[in-house]
Amino acid sequence: MNVAVPKETAPGEHRVAMTPDIAGRLVKSGLQVTVETGAGAAAGFLDDAYRAAGASIAPDANSLYSSADFVLKVQRPNAAEIAALPKGSALLAFLFPLVNPGDAAALAARGVTAFSIDMLPRISRAQGMDALSSQSTVSGYKAVLFAADALPKFFPMLMTAAGTIPPARVLVLGAGVAGLQAIATARRLGAVVTGFDARAATKEQVESLGASFVSPPIAAEGAGGYARELTAEEQATNRDALTKSVAESDVVITTALVPGRKAPLLITDAMVRAMRPGSVIVDLAAEAGGNCEGTQPGEQVTVHDVHVLGPRNVPSSMPQHASQLYAKNLHALFTHLVKDGKLVVDMSDEITRGVCITREGAVVHEGVAKLTAGGVA
Ligand code: NAI
Repeated sequence: MNVAVPKETAPGEHRVAMTPDIAGRLVKSGLQVTVETGAGAAAGFLDDAYRAAGASIAPDANSLYSSADFVLKVQRPNAAEIAALPKGSALLAFLFPLVNPGDAAALAARGVTAFSIDMLPRISRAQGMDALSSQSTVSGYKAVLFAADALPKFFPMLMTAAGTIPPARVLVLGAGVAGLQAIATARRLGAVVTGFDARAATKEQVESLGASFVSPPIAAEGAGGYARELTAEEQATNRDALTKSVAESDVVITTALVPGRKAPLLITDAMVRAMRPGSVIVDLAAEAGGNCEGTQPGEQVTVHDVHVLGPRNVPSSMPQHASQLYAKNLHALFTHLVKDGKLVVDMSDEITRGVCITREGAVVHEGVAKLTAGGVA
């Protein structure tokens, strides 16, 4: 089996799906590994390191794809990349097939067996494969650094000959993987931190990191450890409980997401207006519609003298460790799917059933098939 790793083509994507370390492990297990030239360069992994690990370097994408049996990628393939995938090959990447069902239909038509790592069930035995978590860890950490950079103040308390500086007050909305990492990072920088989540169960996790917790008047525990979507009235009630905390914060980092839905609106324009001039909001939900009114995805804007950042693809801004963690996640899932150099698709297994989107010319994932049944293009 030839495991192929292309250079990512999506604008601004600096990650790579395989590190030289993982390439070495696959080669030792008897597989052939081919990496497109320059694929890891933006993440600090040069062709020579892959060569030293026993991988071959393909001079361009065409030669890489033409001999590929199993392609490992970060971003979903574009139309040209789908067309370049050989019939009968396999693909593992972030496909987000519920948002991009047309890709699933195209991959099925191409005869590709496609696996989407974002569809992994959040169960204990799959933790090592959980790329949403590993990449959210990067996002939570980087969000705090973006905020610290944009804030015209120190984070830590300082007692100097020129006077005492009080610590920055940081509020983190959404205490999932990214939010908890943001809380821990802001604490390490010396800020006074408060957390909030629609799931009341997060109180203990937030407090264990040394932050205080604003309890949601309306708790919203949903299925599978996620929050359910709140009604408009429920959201307004929870927002009211946050108004004072938001106004008192120097930095607000928002991370609230509900899988498959638009991100909940947690900060209204009036709440932004109530913040002190120079305060900072980092909206990690920008790409999912934003938690803050006024967020512009991919931009930093100033609203009522408050800096509102809506960064896109945050993990790519720290590509080396993001790639290292992602490559480990992919390797764990890959070894679950490939036995003795052969792809084994056991649909009775919860993990495989969760991630397998297309197979034998058809969209086989139940949730995705519902979206493609009407011939979604
Ligand atoms: P996520 O990225 O989907 O959402 C982030 C956070 O936003 C969540 O904590 C969610 O409760 C919160 N949220 C949603 N709507 C909100 C609202 N209206 N107001 C305030 N907060 C709101 O979640 P993530 O980070 O992917 O984790 C979700 C859950 O899955 C967590 O309980 C996490 O611990 C769990 N998990 C379990 C794993 C496993 O067992 N293998 C692995 C990773 C996560």
